[in-house]
Amino acid sequence: MNLFLIMKYGRQGLEGDIIEFGSYREGSAIFMANIARRLGMKGMIYALDAFKGMPTTDKLLDFHSAEDFKDTSFEALQDKVKELGLENLIPLKGLFQESIPKNLYRINKITLAHIDCDIYDAVNYAISSMIPQMNPWGGYLVFDDPLQSSCLGVLEAVEDMIEETGLRAEQAYPHLVYRVPKLEV
Ligand SMILES: C[S@@+](CC[C@H](N)C(=O)[O-])C[C@H]1O[C@@H](n2cnc3c(N)ncnc32)[C@H](O)[C@@H]1O
Repeated sequence: MNLFLIMKYGRQGLEGDIIEFGSYREGSAIFMANIARRLGMKGMIYALDAFKGMPTTDKLLDFHSAEDFKDTSFEALQDKVKELGLENLIPLKGLFQESIPKNLYRINKITLAHIDCDIYDAVNYAISSMIPQMNPWGGYLVFDDPLQSSCLGVLEAVEDMIEETGLRAEQAYPHLVYRVPKLEV
């Protein structure tokens, strides 16, 4: 619901793409692509995942373990996207640390980054790669997991971001949401 509200009311008027870090079976990516289509929004939705489960995790910070969420299939998802006719949805397979450098040339400024990847390293990489990529009028950086007890590493990555950038949350529930760059009022 919050993704819908941000897309319909917040993001309107901002031009650019949407990106998701952590798509698993693409529930939220398909939802966003469908909403974007129905709202007549231009721009692509990039859905990033290893599509073979979590990479190695940090046992001091992350509850999740390597290979959690491996019950998905990139090929089956590609078929699903085709079947639904979602021409605005592009699944990108691989570790973010590899798929972002390979694909950055075709990704426009980001109006909404949905960060739903549960572990410190992945969230930290998503933040550092997307901050320079956000729409200059204030793209939405939406964190799915930092308030979950199983995702302390995500909270730590967000805290690091706050320390480095001085950003302040625009929403605290159901997601931590930041506008980047910081809006001056
Ligand atoms: C909670 S799931 C995503 C749920 C999804 N947004 C949905 O709507 O169902 C987290 C996903 O992040 C992925 N992930 C975590 N770290 C990653 C990384 N460094 N590179 C690629 N995928 C990663 C995992 O493979 C997993 O599928």
